[in-house]
Amino acid sequence: MATGILGIGRYVPDKVLTNLDLEKMVDTSDEWIRTRTGIQERRIADEKTNTSDMAYYASKEALENAGVRPEDIDLILVATVTPDMPFPSVACLIQDRLGAKNAAAMDLGAACAGFMYGMICAKQFIDNNAYKNILVVGVEKLSKITNWQDRNTAVLFGDGAGAVVMGQVSDGKGILSFELGANGAGAKDLYQDGRYIFMNGREVFKFAVRQMGESAVNVVEKAGLKKEDIDALIPHQANIRIMEASRERLGLPEEKLIKTVHKYGNTSSSSIPLALYDAVAEGKVKDGDIVVLVGFGGGLTWGAVALRWGK
Ligand code: UT7
Repeated sequence: MATGILGIGRYVPDKVLTNLDLEKMVDTSDEWIRTRTGIQERRIADEKTNTSDMAYYASKEALENAGVRPEDIDLILVATVTPDMPFPSVACLIQDRLGAKNAAAMDLGAACAGFMYGMICAKQFIDNNAYKNILVVGVEKLSKITNWQDRNTAVLFGDGAGAVVMGQVSDGKGILSFELGANGAGAKDLYQDGRYIFMNGREVFKFAVRQMGESAVNVVEKAGLKKEDIDALIPHQANIRIMEASRERLGLPEEKLIKTVHKYGNTSSSSIPLALYDAVAEGKVKDGDIVVLVGFGGGLTWGAVALRWGK
């Protein structure tokens, strides 16, 4: 047996914030945002909807989609930099609400690469036969740590949640290879400065272009695959220019790059599962397809997975 994804769910808030809305809030333009980032609009959670609410909605759908009962979940891992409060964890809050009474629960922090870290941690427990079903969630309410007066960051971020249930899948399917990494020397380029996100955009951009391409190539090679075997590339949805650079590094045609950045912006740890959800729903990822997931984020951190979709 192998370890893979049994089901997937997501939640995005209804409220849409467009580039035109942002033009009225900061000194920016729809044209600048589109050409520099590829973002057209993003979703923003209302006052009443906290991070754990979004995580709960996405998780509920993932459990239903997987056909797994809440009491059969052994561990909940929630990747987030915007928990409801420092403690208890979002994982504990949703454990109770889901009725996952047999699950251990914790949050993990690897910023935008958090979902990759979560998936790869989950894989270890399942490979070891220690646990059977693990819920992995990427969720962010970035709007609460965004400085809406700072045009360097305000135009980039959005809110949302994606969740998967991981467990055993048949041989040849599931996770074929992975890579994780970190470089704490880059902590100064992307961090929460008091209440708000601070980012040295240029430096993060350079790192992201280099690292995403490299990690994607590494997991493909580790899985014994060729670049031509890839059916879908799902990079962290931070900036279309960074995403296109990793597509080019792999020599993939345009249609194999999965994009949601135009409609959700950068949703940090939830961007990869949100994009995977849409790719599956739209038939861009089908049973047996080879999918490469690759993320990077504050830390600096990065992570990638090559997997064969299906159970
Ligand atoms: O999840 C991981 C987190 N972060 C990222 O992935 C972000 C990585 N970095 C990026 O995506 C890009 O660096 C940005 C989109 C943040 C910025 O794009 P850039 O092409 O690197 O622009 P820049 O920072 O070099 O700024 C170019 C110009 C500057 O004006 P001057 O100095 O040339 O006059 C900025 O002040 O654009 C200006 N600028 C803006 N103008 C209009 C910066 N933000 C804006 C804005 N609207 N929102």
